[in-house]
This record gives sequence, C-alpha cells and structure tokens, in this order.
Amino acid sequence: MYVASSKQMKEIDKRAIEEYGIPSIVLMENAAASVLKYIKKYNASRIIVLCGTGNNGGDGFAIARLLHINGYYVSVYCFGDYNKISGDAKVNFDILNKLNIDVKSDIERFISELENCDLIIDAILGTGFKGEISGKYKDAIENVNRSGKYVISVDIPSGIESDTGKASKVHIKADITVTFGCLKYGHILNEGRNSSKRVYVENISIPKSCIEDEKIKAVTNYDKYPLSLLKKRGIDTNKSDYGRLFIIGGSFNMSGAVCLCAKAALRTGSGLVSCVIPKGIADRVGALVPEATYVLCEEKDGFIDIKKEQLDEIIQRADVIALGIGLGNSEKLIDMIEYLIENSTKPLVIDADGLNILSRNNDILKNAKSRIVITPHPGEMARLTGFSTNYINENRVKIAIDFSREYNCITLLKGSSTVVAFEDNIYINTTGNPGMATGGSGDVLTGIIASFIGQGYTPYEACILGSYIHGRAGDDAYETYGYGLTSKDIIKFIGKYVKL
Ligand code: APR
Repeated sequence: MYVASSKQMKEIDKRAIEEYGIPSIVLMENAAASVLKYIKKYNASRIIVLCGTGNNGGDGFAIARLLHINGYYVSVYCFGDYNKISGDAKVNFDILNKLNIDVKSDIERFISELENCDLIIDAILGTGFKGEISGKYKDAIENVNRSGKYVISVDIPSGIESDTGKASKVHIKADITVTFGCLKYGHILNEGRNSSKRVYVENISIPKSCIEDEKIKAVTNYDKYPLSLLKKRGIDTNKSDYGRLFIIGGSFNMSGAVCLCAKAALRTGSGLVSCVIPKGIADRVGALVPEATYVLCEEKDGFIDIKKEQLDEIIQRADVIALGIGLGNSEKLIDMIEYLIENSTKPLVIDADGLNILSRNNDILKNAKSRIVITPHPGEMARLTGFSTNYINENRVKIAIDFSREYNCITLLKGSSTVVAFEDNIYINTTGNPGMATGGSGDVLTGIIASFIGQGYTPYEACILGSYIHGRAGDDAYETYGYGLTSKDIIKFIGKYVKL
C-alpha cells in the first residue's frame, strides 16, 4: 500500500498529466466514476452532494452529474464563493448548469432537505484543506454529523488535514471514504484515523510508476503484508537457531519492565533470553521469568554498574541486545550506552531510559557499529529532538524520517499510528487501541522487536512485524479486558500471531 503527502500527490497528478498526457479532467471523471461505484452499492434514491469550490468540489459536481444521468434524485449544495470555482471544477460546475441542475447555497433549505435524503456525498474539502472550518460549511457539517445519515467522503473527510490527520474542531465523520491513487497520511494518522470507518483506494488510471517513483512505500494494516513476513521453522532446529537476546536494564525501582520485555520476547519465540540486571533485583525478576537466564551486575544507588569486560562478553555472545528498559535515568549510565553503541557488532534496540540518557548526546548514534533501532514514545522523541510533544504528534512521519536520516538508525515512533522510518521506507501501523496506553506496553513491544531480530529477521522487518503483532495482541486484550487491559494481557495474545 502506498501513502502520499499532498505535495507528493500533486507531483503524482502532474506526472500523469504531463508525462503520460492524461488530461486532468479525465482523472476527475475517473474519480467521480469510482465514487459512483460505491454509491450504487448503497441502496439510496435521494442523494445530497455537498461541494466546495476547489477540485474536491469539482469531483462532487462530476459525481452529481453521473448520479443525475443514472436516474438518482440528486441535490447539490455549494456554500462557497462561486467566483472561486475554476479549471476542471468550473467545467463540471458549468455542465450542471446546462443540465438545469441547480447548485444551491441556502443553508436552511439544506438542513430541511437533509431529513429526507438517504445518502450524503461529502466533496467539500480534500487535500487542499488546512486549519479550521467555519461559517456555513461548519453549520452544514454539524448537521450532517447529527443526522445519522450514511456519508461517503470523496478523497478525505472534509476538515481532516491530508498530511497530518489533524482535524478541524468540526469535521465530517464518514462511513466510507473513497480515495484516489493511494492513501493519504491523513487517513491513518491522528484524528484522521477515526474520521472514516473504512477507506477504499481507487485506481483512477494514474500510471503505477508515477506512484511508485515517489518512494512513498508504506504499509498499513489494510495490508496482509506484515504477517506474510513470518518464516516457517525447520523441523530439525533448536533453541540456538532462534536467537540469544540480552536485555540490559532494570533498576531498584523498576524491576517489572525487564520481566515484561523478557516474557514478550519468549512469547514471540526467542530461543534464549538473558536478563542483564543489577543483582539487587535478581530475586524479584528471577521469580517472575524462570525461562530466562541472568547476568547479575554490581549496582550503584540502585542502578546497574556494569564493567566493560562484561559488556564485551555480552556483545560477543548476543545475537541482539535490548537496552534501556527500566534502567533509570542516571547520568552515570551514559558511558555504558556510549560504549555499547560504539562497540556492539550486534543490533541494538534502544528504548525508554536508554533513550532519555541518550538524549544528552544523540550524536553518539552517528558512531554506531551495528544497526540501531530506537523506539521512542512522543515524550521521549521530544527529549531527543527538542520539539514539543504536540509538534511531534502533528508531524509524526516527517519527524521519524528526519531522525532516521540524520542518525542513520531505524526510528519507530510510538503512539496512535506508530511510524517506522528507515532510509526511504515508511511503515505506518494502524493496529492497536487506546487501552494499550498503560505502563509496560512499550517494554512488551521492545521485547517483541528484539526477539524477531534475534530470530534472523532484518531490524526493519522486525519493527514492522513487531508493531503489527503488538497492536493485534493489544486489540485482542481489549476485546477481553477493555480499557482495563494490562501489559501482561498483551503478552498473552502474542503467540496467536507467531504461528504458521
Ligand atoms: N476553510 C475554508 N476553505 C479552506 C480551508 C479552510 N480551513 N482550507 C483550505 N481551504 C480552501 C483553499 O483556499 C482552496 O480554495 O479550499 C480550497 C482547496 O480545496 P480542495 O478541493 O481541498 O483542494 P484542491 O487542491 O483544489 O483539490 C484537491 O481535488 O483531486 C481532487 O478530491 C481530490 O482532494 C483532492 C482535491
């Protein structure tokens, strides 16, 4: 599945038009015809088409004409300044006039017509929208949302920003959205993710290469792709074939995090898990994870105090190292993190306090010897970048791409719609639910990802599979425990998805 920003979408359209000679009005006609296909599936006879004055409105005018020709009773409203309608939108607007289809702008009349219609087509604002919706459109949208009528949005629900998924206070709540060429970020990020129950991508005859050349590869859980990465195990294999994971973490006040990470890794299929922890928490952790082995370290003030020789031995024996879970945010640990980044020849997954400590000097990442995966939540990303959490949430894709490029690491930015960025690849995960906003959920994700890396998946594949399965297991936990789900409940369902 491909995802495009509004700028990329403009470039895609431009190439289709200029390089391939496909007239823009043909693209608009195809877009309208593709929406008609979905309208026909819904048994409606009285339809209202709400149009804006941009090209999204143009799609709406073309849809209204097709509906009229197909014998539907169609009512068209446009509350903007008609003088602003131009280009292909104007061509379609003028055809409606010639067909004597009135384009109305009386909001009171619209509200009363709403009662008797069966279906509403939302073609007010598309990828050109930014900011807040006000005036008559605000009134119209509030009435549409209140009406409970079936709504089909054209391209993207009106009031959702195409690049961020940020929503105007008042925005359309659609039943389905029919989008063109590829998904837009706004369909899967932030509030945009919940603004339509389902999104369908239609091919409107844009040549495939225009979309693929934009290097906007992204995978969402609309795809079957993540689980197709799973590899079947050979019958004659043993535990050493499925990776030795070392988890370096834990502190006197945070012993549970290591347990959750280790348990999740074991449930994902790790052959061997070793917890490298301060000896003061050995009894607590050992009692909870008997399947793991332990490297017990000295401790200072409740934090791990590990010698370089011990780190060298871990690097040598490990297939993958998870670093930072429950470590505690002690300044003194920066040396250990720096040493591991600069000397580890095995992939490192850095999370939680590992990231908080790292944020004192991100540049260490530039000296990495092996592939690094960082798994920050927006708060940790804020510390790493100096941006506010709000800014990060609104610009998740850009922030993840920029960080992964600057520090040459895989960046997995957690939150609603996790973004994984690595080189030109982006993966946006849409599994999971707000019930997973609970302590330890991130520790579980780190365990899953590190486990997959240890089992031989590339770190990027491990992030895709890991975030997908973490979300699916969380969705199952929600079914049983609702918002009361705990991180341990997520672990219970992991095994269901690592099965072939
Ligand atoms: N309030 C009111 N009008 C706004 C707002 C806002 N907050 N934000 C943007 N606009 C106006 C712009 O000034 C512009 O006139 O909306 C218009 C852009 O409308 P769109 O139809 O969303 O954008 P446009 O680039 O014309 O068309 C893109 O065309 O290919 C189709 O449906 C497809 O979404 C796509 C659309």
